[in-house]
Amino acid sequence: MLRTVVLGASTGLGRCIGLGLAARGGRVALLARSKDKLDDAAHEAGHGAVAIACDAADEGSCRAGIEAAAAALGGIDSLIYAAGIGPLARVEQAGAAVWRRAFDVNVLGATLATAAALPHLRESKGKAIYLSTIGSSYTPPWPGLAVYQVTKAALDRLVEAWRAEHPSVGFTRLTLGDCAGGEGDAMTHFASAWDPDVAGEMGQKWVERALLTGSLIDVEHLVEIVDGLVRAGASVNVPSVTVTPRPPSD
Ligand SMILES: NC(=O)c1ccc[n+]([C@@H]2O[C@H](COP(=O)([O-])OP(=O)(O)OC[C@H]3O[C@@H](n4cnc5c(N)ncnc54)[C@H](OP(=O)(O)O)[C@@H]3O)[C@@H](O)[C@H]2O)c1
Repeated sequence: MLRTVVLGASTGLGRCIGLGLAARGGRVALLARSKDKLDDAAHEAGHGAVAIACDAADEGSCRAGIEAAAAALGGIDSLIYAAGIGPLARVEQAGAAVWRRAFDVNVLGATLATAAALPHLRESKGKAIYLSTIGSSYTPPWPGLAVYQVTKAALDRLVEAWRAEHPSVGFTRLTLGDCAGGEGDAMTHFASAWDPDVAGEMGQKWVERALLTGSLIDVEHLVEIVDGLVRAGASVNVPSVTVTPRPPSD
């Protein structure tokens, strides 16, 4: 039974991935800060799923969370780093605290979690998969999302740096277009703290510039792709996978 740690599993895509892998027979450890949401998710997942409170941006909490997950699962075959925040702010108004917090969660947490999981991933010849965005590489910059997209671009490079130093582990950058997730806590909470006025102004620019298309990835189809990645054999590297929504008609 494949053992997967999903960090960022309390809401949105991480939660859908954790539940989806459990439904396909995997054993999952679900990590994030919101323990109540994780407990609900682990209960829903069944199959021995465990819920572990963990702040990815705090070195001690991150290391302890990954260690607790490895102990509960008896090792780690895959780490999925889904934790992420996307503050919305005009670039000149994003202050140091906003930048630091985004780097802490989107970049620092990813490397801390990977370092903590490394001995287990080397032992299992396992994989580490990081959720990134098309806005960090494939599209022009989105107004209002500079902090998010710049930190995700740093994450993209971080994944390459890890692969360069640890080639026996399979490192994958999973670059995504828009996906709403599921329902309730499984819905993306990504925009929940956005100022509605700024969101309205920026949303109009995204539509005008054809950045926001209105098409969405079906989260079940995303879970199928992640399931394939965690099942891939140890002889292959899958450095990068890009998933974008296909419009329903021409
Ligand atoms: N939805 C999309 O269209 C889309 C597109 C491209 C990429 N992505 C990426 O997919 C990932 C999930 O996004 P989402 O849309 O599902 O957003 P979401 O619902 O806001 O999920 C973010 C997750 O990250 C966790 N998290 C935040 N700060 C954390 C911290 N300090 N320590 C541990 N966990 C933390 C949150 O849990 P707690 O708050 O409980 O800690 C939550 O589980 C993100 O990395 C995002 O950049 C999403």
